[in-house]
Amino acid sequence: MSSPQLAQPGRRDALRLAAIAAAYLAMAASPIAAAAQTAPGGAPLKIATIGAGREGGALGTLFAKAGHPVMFSSRHPEQLNDLVAAAGPLAKAGTVAEAIAFADVVLLVVPYPAVEQIGKDHGKALAAKPLVMDISNPIAGRDPEDLIKWVEQQGGAALATAKLLPGAHLVRAFNAINYAKLPELAHRQGEPVGVPIAGDDQNALAIASRLIKEIGFEPVLNVRTPLAGVHTPDEIRQIAATLK
Ligand SMILES: NC(=O)c1ccc[n+]([C@@H]2O[C@H](COP(=O)([O-])OP(=O)(O)OC[C@H]3O[C@@H](n4cnc5c(N)ncnc54)[C@H](OP(=O)(O)O)[C@@H]3O)[C@@H](O)[C@H]2O)c1
Repeated sequence: MSSPQLAQPGRRDALRLAAIAAAYLAMAASPIAAAAQTAPGGAPLKIATIGAGREGGALGTLFAKAGHPVMFSSRHPEQLNDLVAAAGPLAKAGTVAEAIAFADVVLLVVPYPAVEQIGKDHGKALAAKPLVMDISNPIAGRDPEDLIKWVEQQGGAALATAKLLPGAHLVRAFNAINYAKLPELAHRQGEPVGVPIAGDDQNALAIASRLIKEIGFEPVLNVRTPLAGVHTPDEIRQIAATLK
């Protein structure tokens, strides 16, 4: 597939970064955020995964087992029977369009080069959802060099995905937690594992926070999500405080 049109970062991105920072500060004091972070529960949400490989499969399974109806999707939904069976009675599989139509919220868990085409094919439908959780990462050395360069020019993956999915209510989350560790880290004994989240839409952040808590992690609002590995919430806050 083609790479996104190259574009230089501009004033709009600076404003958007400022908006994300402002949302971060506002969220710290927001009663909605406080409620979402301390009180998981409520009606189940229908969840679509776009991408049902290692990470999408593991996350979708956690959500299905937490009581949310999940539709896994990929370009080959007929290959997802084993995943659906393992995820339990609340799981099913469909095409990407079917999953988006089914869902209240969407998890985007595809190789980063696929995001542009998904935006072109489904951008309008995705923009109508209150939350698109963006788990997809551009990875240097794995993804095309011009795409990596373009993402850097946008100011990072959060801003790049926002360009590829205009109008979507995006929250980045789970970007640095390996799929193989998700089941054992969910609801672990003692202090929970922190999940850095970033976005500029308070409602989307609140929904994401609720969902993350329901599968046994602790959301930690961050302007960016560059933290690799497994950390407690306090460790994430300390590391984030040192980031420029
Ligand atoms: N693996 C991890 O531990 C991990 C952790 C954090 C974040 N991530 C990020 O999550 C994303 C997925 O990683 P992964 O390891 O799960 O990859 P993966 O195992 O290769 O799975 C990728 C999934 O995306 C689907 N897909 C690919 N292109 C698509 C398209 N155009 N439309 C719809 N579905 C498409 C694939 O199915 P079809 O080919 O059948 O369409 C497959 O289900 C990456 O961006 C990665 O950086 C991964």
